[in-house]
Amino acid sequence: MIEFEKRLVAREALKLIGDVKLLGLGSGSTVAIFVEELAKSDKAGKIKVIPSSKQIEEVARNQGLEVIYPDGERPEITVDGADEIDSNLNLLKGGGGALLREKVLAYNSSTYVIIADHTKLVEKLCSKRALPVEVLPYGVSWTLGNLIKRFNCDARIRIKDLSPFITDNGNVIVDINCPPLEDPASMESEVKGVPGVVEVGIFVGLADLVLIARGSEVKVVRQGF
Ligand code: A5P
Repeated sequence: MIEFEKRLVAREALKLIGDVKLLGLGSGSTVAIFVEELAKSDKAGKIKVIPSSKQIEEVARNQGLEVIYPDGERPEITVDGADEIDSNLNLLKGGGGALLREKVLAYNSSTYVIIADHTKLVEKLCSKRALPVEVLPYGVSWTLGNLIKRFNCDARIRIKDLSPFITDNGNVIVDINCPPLEDPASMESEVKGVPGVVEVGIFVGLADLVLIARGSEVKVVRQGF
């Protein structure tokens, strides 16, 4: 069912992008399905994409899309996924470790569109998942200790295949097991205030449009509504 919802929402997003020439791509499995749908469509030969990660770049190249790097012109639309979405369209991101580049793309896109299956909806961010934070390897044990002390929560360096997970930017991810967030904007700025933190996976006020699939229906929610 979840795979069905991801494809459904990916197809809806495809209708939405119209004749856009420059498109930003977030990361993750839902965006990968969107890329497959895009590559099959009549838009494929007329569009250039800016990927947010090596993962989605590989998917886009394998599907024959024209990939460019972020320089000069900014994307008209970026299509991205999310790990959690609250009712104010604030997002939790970074499950795949791509949060830093995703945030750069989101900030620099005219329209930032989120596509997700219904399991991503939450009342408060960090209800189901830890908060991902991208951290500089330099002094990482100090930064980890500072985050644990400052937020009085368990926090761990993300491990993959028995080693620290390294992001596309050469940094590590610290996952903070905090309680559900009452005030995501304050948490974002407080975490960013800790030296060594490069970026945090809380996206406040960036999503313009969220498409959520539930069963065979897609709900579209706009910022401000
Ligand atoms: C990548 O770091 C994340 O922000 C993804 O956008 C997020 O994890 C969504 O991925 P799925 O579409 O695979 O759930």
